[in-house]
Amino acid sequence: MKNLLEINLLDKSLIENILLQSGTYVENQPQANKQHINLANLFYENSTRTRVSFELAADQIGLNVINIDLATSSEQKGETVLDTVKTLHSMGIKLFVMRHQQERLVHEMSRHIKTASFINAGDGMHAHPTQALIDLLTIQQCKGVFEPLRVVILGDIKHSRVANSLLSGLSIMGTRDIVLLTDTAFLPDKVKVGKVEQNISDALKGADVIVTLRVQKERINALGEKSVAQYKADYCLNEERLALAKSDAIVMHPGPMNRGIELSDAVADGPQSVILNQVSNGVPVRMAVLEYALT
Ligand code: CP
Repeated sequence: MKNLLEINLLDKSLIENILLQSGTYVENQPQANKQHINLANLFYENSTRTRVSFELAADQIGLNVINIDLATSSEQKGETVLDTVKTLHSMGIKLFVMRHQQERLVHEMSRHIKTASFINAGDGMHAHPTQALIDLLTIQQCKGVFEPLRVVILGDIKHSRVANSLLSGLSIMGTRDIVLLTDTAFLPDKVKVGKVEQNISDALKGADVIVTLRVQKERINALGEKSVAQYKADYCLNEERLALAKSDAIVMHPGPMNRGIELSDAVADGPQSVILNQVSNGVPVRMAVLEYALT
């Protein structure tokens, strides 16, 4: 049994294997054969894509899925997360898919319980490794390669676990030209991967991939005096701005989107958008991740 806690704990060949396995699941469904293995979905934060796609993925490979309703669990009576997980593990649950607002809590669970496998479905602002694998598969399907691409990340990068994991994933896969394009308020304090660009024309020129990120409503205060209207005026990806990128550039967004803030309706629903391909890839990627976790 293995954990998947962060994408930068995987090496390039392992990511390539997971993407290859995901690709086979895009084409063919496996025989269900693991009814005796129980998986618990533990979502302490809201989710549509991640929770449902893990449930579908687990079902496709024959796992028995238990969605824990945390609003009615004994945690409401004061039980700790660790005691909840230990309790579920004692009933025979071996795989835990966990989303929690506390960074690295899932790592802590994995250190306490060595006989179970933990998959990080998003921990605070820290990491979202399976979303990064989905994004890498989508880029690979559209572009075939990673190294020569110009990938522009646009939006609230500072508070985004998706950005953290995707930047690590692109770096592992050898992408050479990564650009971070956003307002200063949404830049990480330390930029470890990619170069910062605040001029939208310079950033988008020659872009192969534009990854837009949610401007989180709860983070709007970070803009200080600046209004959301000003952010939109400066950075919202509209058709005119998209035309600055290569004509075959793809537009991505991990969801959920704030239409009209980080990108316009016309771009979100336009021919260069692969946003729903990302959603579709959620199931095969998570099937491959669950298979990996069970090895
Ligand atoms: N991308 C993503 O994690 O979406 P959900 O919050 O809907 O799971």
